Amino acid sequence: MIEFRKVRKVFEDGTEAIKGIDLVIPEGQLTALIGPSGCGKTTTMKMINKLIVPTDGTIYIDGEEIASKNEVELRRNIGYVIQRIGLLPHMTIEENIALIPKLKGWKKEKYEPRVDELMELVGLEPDVYRKRYPLELSGGQQQRVGVIRALAAEPPIILMDEPFSALDPISREQLQDELKALQQKIHKTIVFVTHDMDEALKIADQIAVMKDGVIEQYGSPNELLARPSNEFVRTFIGEHRMNGASPLFVKDVMSAFAAPSETNNMPAISSSASISMAAKELLNSKAEFLQVEENGETVGYVTKEDILQVVADKEGAPHAG
Ligand SMILES: Nc1ncnc2c1ncn2[C@@H]1O[C@H](COP(=O)(O)OP(=O)(O)OP(=O)(O)O)[C@@H](O)[C@H]1O
Ligand SMILES: [Mg+2]
Repeated sequence: MIEFRKVRKVFEDGTEAIKGIDLVIPEGQLTALIGPSGCGKTTTMKMINKLIVPTDGTIYIDGEEIASKNEVELRRNIGYVIQRIGLLPHMTIEENIALIPKLKGWKKEKYEPRVDELMELVGLEPDVYRKRYPLELSGGQQQRVGVIRALAAEPPIILMDEPFSALDPISREQLQDELKALQQKIHKTIVFVTHDMDEALKIADQIAVMKDGVIEQYGSPNELLARPSNEFVRTFIGEHRMNGASPLFVKDVMSAFAAPSETNNMPAISSSASISMAAKELLNSKAEFLQVEENGETVGYVTKEDILQVVADKEGAPHAG
């Protein structure tokens, strides 16, 4: 558990980035920090691994004040995925992933299988990619390596600062699915910064909505959707997402049957993709159907009509609140 008590951060130039926040981040869950640019998400996150030191207040990890801890030791136990990936360009993928385990003194027999296991977990065939350098991978593949590198030494806490923001929408949905599936296996304490409310609603156990250095609301996705505590949160979530009757995701509208045979070569979409993603994909591909996939397997299909119907229902529905 990570606990912020009355934490404030004033930078040298007088900017009060964090205005005295209390926040309890439970163990083994994924907590998202969301809010507009400059609201203090990265500052909050960096105070957890002491890249930034609070001006006032106290941060505890498992009941111990981090102020008294050695920062190098602390950081070895906290995985960190930065927005711009941050792989070391002169090291192979294998070396990048094994870096922290090696620093922690793991033996080759222990870290080598771990590297392979992690690469397989995110769909990177170890024999193909192990010896490549970061620049020989696509942006999405590099981002996957960034994520598994943070997991490699099995840290109990993982900080992820907009890890998927540089990705195209399709890879982004894919990595969100992968992270969600992974978290169901590993149950780490993950702090995940994002700008994207759909992303937060999809992957987080709880969401802290921030604005100007304060936390406006902290709760589960359902609590936020059902009871936004003020106008800012309501606007940030968006009316369209709060209309409880409207399906948000492809899986809510798909048909779980094999698609009609005349629709060979349909573009594919993840079952957990949002309706708007599906609409974009239909527009881009000019297809009439999308094949719906879960973990690489086809589980059904959606038609253009399915998607249009959702949009039409939303337009026609009375606004909540
Ligand atoms: N080293 C610094 N010195 C002075 N001000 C800073 C410093 N770092 C951040 N700030 C300011 O603190 C505030 C919070 O910054 P922070 O990086 O935490 O925002 P953020 O929510 O992560 O934004 P974004 O979504 O754009 O990444 C901003 O006003 C920013 O300009
Ligand atoms: Mg930031």
